[in-house]
Amino acid sequence: MKIERNAFVAPSMLSADFARVEEEVLGLKANGIKYLHLDIMDGSFVPTITFGHKFVSDVRHHEDLIFDTHLMVVNPEKHITNYAKAGSDIITVHAEAALHLHSTLKAIHEEGKKSGISIVPTTPLSAIEIALEMVDLILLMSVDPGFGGQTFIPWSLKKIRDLAEMRKKYNLDFIISVDGGVNEKNVVEIVNAGADLLVMGNGYFNATDRKALVKLVQG
Ligand code: DX5
Ligand code: ZN
Repeated sequence: MKIERNAFVAPSMLSADFARVEEEVLGLKANGIKYLHLDIMDGSFVPTITFGHKFVSDVRHHEDLIFDTHLMVVNPEKHITNYAKAGSDIITVHAEAALHLHSTLKAIHEEGKKSGISIVPTTPLSAIEIALEMVDLILLMSVDPGFGGQTFIPWSLKKIRDLAEMRKKYNLDFIISVDGGVNEKNVVEIVNAGADLLVMGNGYFNATDRKALVKLVQG
């Protein structure tokens, strides 16, 4: 399959070697990466715990990267200020975790940040359709959140296509991001379906040629 459009790769720091964070970040910048995906897990919304806002602020000296922060936490509204102060550029919350999603998205914008909504694979697009006009990014999970290294759920492709259609129908311009099981083998199909931002943990860090992968996607 031939790639029909360009998109961006957002490596997930979750799959990086935490003992060599600085080296990993320099390496991905050298490969042409513009977005850094930061997975915040609280052990409640998802079973595992990763890192918090201090980690985000400690890597923020890389001013040339767009920090894409994915909050997999319950009550995300409590954490917006911390992640905004830490230097996130985009703050994405889960529709399933934010009871008052409208207010949470407003709070993100009031911090001067871009807002995102994420949904897990079984949450239908209809659950967020009404809020699409408020957001800068929609993050479609293509695995159940909580762990890196899972297999892409094939029916996520239909969701990407449907969301791209919805965006057209409402004449909106939010970014369509896809997260979970994206790798060098399925990335072309996912980009062609309409994804603009490909989150890749294992798919990036275990790629046979990281630079070639970035070039293929970003052009
Ligand atoms: C999963 C996280 C992902 C994860 C992706 O819950 O949201 O961002 O790091 O890892 P891979 O690309 O390995 O599926
Ligand atoms: Zn993520």
